[in-house]
Amino acid sequence: MSEKTYCMIKPDAVARGIVGRIVARFEDVGLEIERLELGMVTPEQAAANYAEHAGKPFYQGLVTYITSGPVVKMVLAGPDAVAVVRKLMGVTNPKEAAPGTIRGDFGISLDANIVHGSDSAASAEREIAIFFGG
Ligand code: RTP
Ligand code: MG
Repeated sequence: MSEKTYCMIKPDAVARGIVGRIVARFEDVGLEIERLELGMVTPEQAAANYAEHAGKPFYQGLVTYITSGPVVKMVLAGPDAVAVVRKLMGVTNPKEAAPGTIRGDFGISLDANIVHGSDSAASAEREIAIFFGG
């Protein structure tokens, strides 16, 4: 079943100039880029996107980081897009992410871990509304 997911290239990856190589990973498997936009994340968007982590020790750093510089916001579409994007991203900590995944190949920091991808279809719908409107 075709579905949509929200994906975001985080500030460290934009600053390092690896946007094209990351977008290529998604294009390579045949995901469709429905939306793509460079811009800042507002504090309100960061709080909404990461509401599930409010109160955790890393929360404030996470919000500060994601609002620290331009990101690339995307809506990607295709069969099982949510799971496919999470597979391509690799696990949360780049030091543990498998080689061949985006985080495994491009990252080393748990905080600056290159990409965000929605973790469920419900999250995707919520996050697309946060970043692109309803
Ligand atoms: P994301 O939401 O950014 O796509 O990452 P994720 O689903 O793989 O991981 P999640 O559990 O949602 O965590 C969100 C972000 O918080 C940072 N984090 N730090 N210090 C820590 O223990 C810790 N745990 C998570 C990571 O930068 C992660 O991407
Ligand atoms: Mg998450």
